[in-house]
Amino acid sequence: MTDALLSARGLRKTFGGLVAVDDVSIEIAAGMTHSIIGPNGAGKTTLFNLLTGRYHPTRGVVVYKGRDITALPVYKRAHLGIGRSFQITNLFPNLTVLENARLAAQALGKDNFRIFRLATSFDSYIRRAYEVLEITGLREVAALPANTLPHGGKRKLELAMILACDPELLLLDEPTAGMASEQVPELIQIIDRIREQGAKTIVMVEHNMSVVMNISDRITVMHQGRVLAEGDPRQIAADRMVQAVYLGELYDLPKGESA
Ligand SMILES: Nc1ncnc2c1ncn2[C@@H]1O[C@H](COP(=O)(O)OP(=O)(O)O)[C@@H](O)[C@H]1O
Ligand SMILES: [Mg+2]
Repeated sequence: MTDALLSARGLRKTFGGLVAVDDVSIEIAAGMTHSIIGPNGAGKTTLFNLLTGRYHPTRGVVVYKGRDITALPVYKRAHLGIGRSFQITNLFPNLTVLENARLAAQALGKDNFRIFRLATSFDSYIRRAYEVLEITGLREVAALPANTLPHGGKRKLELAMILACDPELLLLDEPTAGMASEQVPELIQIIDRIREQGAKTIVMVEHNMSVVMNISDRITVMHQGRVLAEGDPRQIAADRMVQAVYLGELYDLPKGESA
């Protein structure tokens, strides 16, 4: 209970009369890759936005490292080490890939670089930018304007920009969305590389089940705004209720044949 890096209790979010998230409690343990899955309209994105601070809950609390952050906006959460999730629309299209990554590193001006302050701090941001481009496989296109990248490349750049801030916790909203299926294995590799860099906790909303089953330590399944099931990938794959409600629907299998 208490060793969760991030936890939420009794989260509820309504839009007018619609209950998008209904009494959701979740615990994200440090060092884990924790995926949130569920059918369309289940409330995943809303829950995600409650965790990032983009939305404020109608009820309930969000706690990070023992501190109640329910009322903190996104940028304040970023300063606590929660990787804000950049969107493609946040990229500077005419700046190079490297400059985008450098600006992300600089945006937070992390104290990591305290000893390199002033004259050399610029160099340290550039160095960090190259590091994250290496991790995300963008080193070779560092000098290209961001808007010349294909969609998959832009998604990788988003990841690079989150990483540039060196967060302890990364919140990823459908990292494979819009990617061609042949690019998915590379994305899995990148996330593995991020995990190997150590001490990173990842919370991810993701539709692609091969990604989810491959890289998750833990999975929370949502359905109609609530938590339907939680477990490791094996438990979730074997869960009959999940099969019926989610996997069956996803793969469009007739009921009863999803096992
Ligand atoms: N900003 C919003 N305003 C009104 N309704 C919303 C808003 N965001 C989500 N919803 C509704 O809340 C429910 C959950 O949506 P969402 O969290 O996007 O689900 P998911 O990401 O699992 O597909 C849906 O019925 C959706 O239409
Ligand atoms: Mg969604």
